[in-house]
Formats: sequence, C-alpha cells, structure tokens
Amino acid sequence: MESFQVTAAGPFARPLEGTVRVGGAKNSALKLMAAALLAPGTSVIRNVPDILDVTVMGQLLRQLGCTVDVVQPEGTVTIDVPEELGWEAPYELVRRLRASIAVLGPLVARCHRASVALPGGDAIGSRGLDMHMAGLRDLGAVIRVEHGQVVAEVPGGLVGATLWLDFPSVGATENLLMAAVTASGSSVLDNAAREPEIVDLCRMLVSMGARIDGIGSSTLSIEGVDRLRPVEHTTVTDRIVAGTWAFAPALAGGTVTIEGGVASHLDLVLDKLASAGALITTQETGFTVTVESRLRSFDVVTLPFPGFPTDLQPFAMALASVSEGTAMITENVFESRFMFAQELARLGADLHTDGHHAVVRGVPTLSGAPVVAHDIRAGAALVLAGLASQGVTTVAESHHIDRGYPRFAEVLADIGADVVRISD
Ligand code: UD1
Repeated sequence: MESFQVTAAGPFARPLEGTVRVGGAKNSALKLMAAALLAPGTSVIRNVPDILDVTVMGQLLRQLGCTVDVVQPEGTVTIDVPEELGWEAPYELVRRLRASIAVLGPLVARCHRASVALPGGDAIGSRGLDMHMAGLRDLGAVIRVEHGQVVAEVPGGLVGATLWLDFPSVGATENLLMAAVTASGSSVLDNAAREPEIVDLCRMLVSMGARIDGIGSSTLSIEGVDRLRPVEHTTVTDRIVAGTWAFAPALAGGTVTIEGGVASHLDLVLDKLASAGALITTQETGFTVTVESRLRSFDVVTLPFPGFPTDLQPFAMALASVSEGTAMITENVFESRFMFAQELARLGADLHTDGHHAVVRGVPTLSGAPVVAHDIRAGAALVLAGLASQGVTTVAESHHIDRGYPRFAEVLADIGADVVRISD
C-alpha cells in the first residue's frame, strides 16, 4: 500500500509557486461513459481524466458487451456499443465504483431490464438510492432489491412522467434523465440537480438527439425520442479539482495559476477565499490564487450547486483550522463527511463536531502526524493540511486520492511542495 508523505515547516514556510492544469471532471466523464450506452455505435469522449475510476468504468462497459479503448494521457475514451447489450452489472465491479450505478437508467432504457449491484464507494454516508428507484418506478419500471442487486424490469418500455425529487440528488437526476430521454412521451424532472456535470451530460444527450429543455435549471423537460445516435463529446473541466488547487496556496501560501479552471463554476468558493484575504485574478484560460499571509476564517454551509460544494468542504475545514478566528462548518449533503475532522484533529486542529455542524478555531500551525485518507477529498485535504503543518505528515490509503486526482503528489511537488509517495 502506498502513502503520501508531506514534509513542511508550517503555513507560508515554503510558499507554492507555479501553474497546474485541470482536465476533465471525473464526476462528469463517468456518467458520459454510461450515457454512451444509450446509442448503438461508436461514441468518443474526450478530456477524460487519467484516473483508476475511468478504468473501472471501462471494465464495467466491457462487461455489458461494449468494446472500450481508453487512451491516456490523451484522455480519449472510445466506446463501441453493440445493438444487444448485457444488462447485468456485477458486484465485483460496482463495489469498486459507486458511480457505476449510472448504468441503471441507460440499461433500463435500452434493454427494458437491468440488474445492477448496490454500490459501495466512498465512506461518506449511506448514499441511498431511493430517489433513483422511485423515479424509475414513476417511469413505469418494476423494481426490487434482491441478493444485493437492484433489479428493474419494464417489458413495454419506459413511459414519460412528471417526477419530483425530494432533494436535488446528482446521481438520481442523471439516472432519471438518461432513462427519460428515450421514454415514450414527455417527462418533467423537477427539483433536479444543476451541477455543471449535469449540464455536461445534458449537452451530450442533446448531441445524441435527445430533446431536453431547461438545461442548467432545476426543472428539466424531456420529450422522449425513439433512438439516439453515437457522438463525440468533450468532458467539462473538473471544478472540484480546480477548487482543490485554489485551496493549496490558501493553506501553504504562495501563488498558483489554475489553467483550465472555470471560475464561474466556483463563484461562491472563490468569493469566500477572496473575502478571507486571498487575491484572485481570472484570465481567459483559468484563474490565479495568491495568498501571502494568514487568512481570516469563514463559515461554510454545503448545498447542491450553486451552493458550496460538499466535495470542497474538507478543504474549507482544513483551511479554517489554520485561519484567524472561528468558523462554523455545516454539512448538509453527506452526513459522514466529518470522519475527516477526526483525522484533522490528529494534526492538532482545534475543532468540535456536533451532528452535521463543526466549530473550528484556527491555530497558527498544525503539527505533522500519521493520518488516514477515508475518501478522495478527505485524502487530498489531509495532504494540503500537511503543507500547513510542522514536521512530517503521512497520509495512508492514498489510493483514494489517486481515484480523483491525476498525479496529485507529482503536481504538488512541481509547484514546490515536499510531497513524495512512499510504500508501506
Ligand atoms: C455525486 C458526486 C459526489 C458529490 C455529490 C454531491 C459522483 C460520482 N459523485 O454523488 O462527488 O459529493 O454528487 O455533489 O458524481 N440520496 C438519497 N437517496 C437517493 C440519492 C441520494 O438519500 O436516491 C442522498 C445521499 O445519500 C446523499 C445526498 O442525497 O446524502 C446527495 O447525494 P447525490 O447528490 O445523489 O450524490 P451522488 O450522486 O452520490
């Protein structure tokens, strides 16, 4: 097993300096790969990040009968989808990648039946599938859970319906959208998620021939079409990776230019950093974050887009732990994300959690210690917290970080951090 070892002398002791390039969004690319299932023929998805999750999604599509060619580091995935698709997604693959639940909607649409294992994934909450299942039922599918599989059947094909989500779930919006685009008749998906990754999926579906109105809003109106065609599509930039890099100089000090970062996808986050004392300048091709001295604390409340992203909450908590003042962090999306707080406390953070609230009192510096990455974002946030610590921080189970960030340790080293991979 590999760990990341971070050596630092506290915040601002060794400021970061340089440019990082942000590629396609993991959370989009995986769903775009699933969407390709909707059209027989050869689809090409570009700007796909060079991470393990893409490889696993490729394996799942192969299991379903597709021919999949992943070319990295170019980031091109070619998917040849047969007329006759398999409809069973086995636990061995699904448990390695929660996002594989995204094949459920396309499989029900294409095969009129599907059996998809209940996923595992990050240790950040129960992550139910009730909204996915309720929506598919509303579209006419009969669904049951048996032997760890979600089994869906709709012999006559899906029929358009009006669907209301209890909460704007990203995964449920994607699955129901992909199910509805070829259902007979029209559908309305209300209280839909409107993350940039959903917009990206809508754009790909529209290029495939789908008819969707209200893209980017919380009400999506879909007019079902009989058949979709394969496409070439370029994945939207990863706003969470871009946001992560914005937090790097906030914790370590320095100036980092985030090439490819889309500032408008991070309005709230960049605004918070600026109001805390960071200097943010935007260019045509990205943005630059400069932090010369200790920032002021700011409160964070996570919410669906355009609210503060839950995936950046651990970085905000790490930053609050070394900022001036006290911050209240409220996690509304994933209940177990505060497992991270216990690891941060091992680095000397002064924090207290109560349910989904955390109070963080800033200290001048953290102190390096061995910690464990429980999920992608917590892992990356611990590495950045290590940069604001005195001494050596070892982040174990760093394979989680590699699932979301191509070459995270190497890119950090390129901009001046002392971060190396070590084998345990
Ligand atoms: C996606 C992202 C994840 C991000 C999250 C919120 C991927 C692969 N992952 O996850 O990085 O943190 O969006 O922006 O794209 N829920 C239910 N029932 C459901 C569906 C969801 O209770 O049927 C709950 C979940 O347990 C969670 C909350 O709703 O507490 C949000 O989940 P959702 O928006 O669906 O996130 P994911 O699609 O799993």
